[in-house]
Amino acid sequence: MGLLIRNGRIITASDDYVADVYAEGETITRIEPSIDPGSLPPGVETIDARGKYVFPGFIDPHVHIHLPFMGTNAIDDHASASRAALAGGTTSVIEMICPGPTDEPMDAFAEWKSRAEAGAAVDYSFHMSVVRFDESAQAQFRRIVEQEGIPSFKVFLAYKGALDLGDEDLFGALSLARKLGVIVTAHCENAEAIDAMQRRLLAEGKTGPEWHEPSRPISVEADGVHHLATMAELTGAHIYTVHTSCEPAVRAAVDARLRGVNIWIEAVLPHLVLDKSAAERPDFEGAKYVMSPPLREKRHQDVLWAGLSGRTISTIGTDHAPFNFNGQKDMGRDAFTKIPNGIPSIQERPALVYTYGVRTGRIDQHTFVDACSTQAARLFGMYPRKGDIRVGADADLVVWDPDFEGKISKETSLSAVDYNAFEGWFVHGRASVVTVRGQIQARDGAFVGTEGRGRMIPREPTHF
Ligand code: URP
Ligand code: ZN
Ligand code: ZN
Repeated sequence: MGLLIRNGRIITASDDYVADVYAEGETITRIEPSIDPGSLPPGVETIDARGKYVFPGFIDPHVHIHLPFMGTNAIDDHASASRAALAGGTTSVIEMICPGPTDEPMDAFAEWKSRAEAGAAVDYSFHMSVVRFDESAQAQFRRIVEQEGIPSFKVFLAYKGALDLGDEDLFGALSLARKLGVIVTAHCENAEAIDAMQRRLLAEGKTGPEWHEPSRPISVEADGVHHLATMAELTGAHIYTVHTSCEPAVRAAVDARLRGVNIWIEAVLPHLVLDKSAAERPDFEGAKYVMSPPLREKRHQDVLWAGLSGRTISTIGTDHAPFNFNGQKDMGRDAFTKIPNGIPSIQERPALVYTYGVRTGRIDQHTFVDACSTQAARLFGMYPRKGDIRVGADADLVVWDPDFEGKISKETSLSAVDYNAFEGWFVHGRASVVTVRGQIQARDGAFVGTEGRGRMIPREPTHF
């Protein structure tokens, strides 16, 4: 069946014009100033987008859905995470595959993939975490890249004893990535320094969530970025710093770029709009706001928005990592080191970036589209099928109502998590119709799609 979106103002990373868009099946086949419905086959679904914007479907390049982590499991499955993503306007996600240090990479890939196949309503791909790098693992990584269509790795310099990768293996993983044309996404914090700081703070009786940030200060993150960049310089690998939270970390990445390192920077929604005072809320409420790297002093938000505005920072993800307050976050009542890290926001990202970034003039609409969609498609080998509105692209479209005004609430969030970190926040603008490959999957904040319809996005290595 066909889908016709009429009279919308089409806004992409570079263009702004009024036109009709027609999708035949899953693909955009016509974009014209005015499409005569008489020229279309019978049974076409028509949406009037007059007064609304039409954006390419948003892409979240950094989510955790299935995540065994810190002694528990993230609470969403692919069905609930997809419903939430789509309600907000996100049509594709890239999920981190995070196996344990002794797991087989191929087994982990198969497990994450089968979970996504069973429940996802968004389209999806994965970043493959390298947590071990022996010969057998290396052969499996090659297969995952070359045969399974996963041309991006993830490495953790943090989480000592769980996910962190030592220097010898980091060098090896970056060298392999360089050979295969794979981009390496990286969590950059110095694991040893954090471990020492955590021990010291706990020994001093500093156990509450407000001590999470002091245990991993901005210098520790900047050190991680610098370290990764040094290894990239030696190996020639292309790297991408995930959830970059603060000025010194951004500066370390920019310095590396000026030295010729192929480095890209990701910001995530929580660091753009929340600050460390949230993790200082009384009665353990601050645990809802514990993530890593931590929420920072407010001044760092200005750096992140300015970095986005000048396109020094390429993408905005969420780092969606949903752990319930009751029964999960509260595992850390006696020690902040046991609070599962994560601030879920897979649904809220487009409306909050639009409200607090575009509406406030911190970024323009093209940068919004670029950071929330197009750059992720380009960097991770999905462009132009995803991330743009053009003939031949997948019909992943967001009809955006710029006049909508409302409040965020747990009541209307579709993630399975038992709190909303943005409870009561005002939003101005939201997704009113969301399509994935030509089929309407969400309307006005509600999921109206088909569970399990999501497909893995074919990707090829591009970072040679
Ligand atoms: O706090 C976070 N970021 N939790 C998810 C795991 C990670 O480091 O991305
Ligand atoms: Zn991380
Ligand atoms: Zn993450």
